[in-house]
Amino acid sequence: MNTTTDVSPSPAAALSATAAKPVKLAVIVGSNREGRFGPVVAEWLLRRVREQQGFEIDVVDLADVDLPTSLSHRPDAATRAELAKVSPKLAAADAFVVLTPEYNHSYPASLKSLIDWHHPEWQAKPIAFVSYGGLSGGLRSVEHLRPVFAELHAVTIRETVSFHNAGALFDDEGNHKEPAAADAAAKAMLDQLAWWAWALRAAKEVRPYGS
Ligand SMILES: Cc1cc2nc3c(=O)[nH]c(=O)nc-3n(C[C@H](O)[C@H](O)[C@H](O)COP(=O)(O)O)c2cc1C
Repeated sequence: MNTTTDVSPSPAAALSATAAKPVKLAVIVGSNREGRFGPVVAEWLLRRVREQQGFEIDVVDLADVDLPTSLSHRPDAATRAELAKVSPKLAAADAFVVLTPEYNHSYPASLKSLIDWHHPEWQAKPIAFVSYGGLSGGLRSVEHLRPVFAELHAVTIRETVSFHNAGALFDDEGNHKEPAAADAAAKAMLDQLAWWAWALRAAKEVRPYGS
């Protein structure tokens, strides 16, 4: 006779329990350049997320963290202090939106540094992108980020929001001058992100990733 009791929730129970909980969303502001435009795009996105039900928002602004480009398994005290600003936020997140500009046809070094200093924090989580730049709208950055996050076992979301010649699209108060298309793109992206966050969170409650 089998006397063990299986206490893990059924897939259906896990899905319905997790669907009721908000998605913990970390919005990563990837640019740390002096005089950067990133905060305008970040504020625009945060307003869109707040309008949409079901997200609990945290912000990881790379202008507030100074991670060294040299990686180490034994980071010194100064590096540990910098990691302490960001690692717990990444670990707690169910999902991410990465805001990235485009520098010389790719994403900024600040973002690569954040990515490489972490590993399990990305695993089996969905990641959406909001990109901006000159003519390309940051789309090359997004295409470069997708295989990087695939290597880290993250799931990147198909729908994106991108802003071509971003500086000209917003007024002095940070409002988009013609918001309809961008608002619709943000809604589609956030809907997909929420779906993946719920699905992956429920799956991980039933069975840890990779087991
Ligand atoms: C070093 C540098 C390289 C850039 N390279 C590109 C590029 O390759 N393609 C593009 O569309 N925009 C490019 N731009 C424009 C930026 O994407 C745009 O200025 C953006 O606002 C930068 O983001 P930030 O202000 O938040 O740092 C570049 C800007 C800088 C500073």
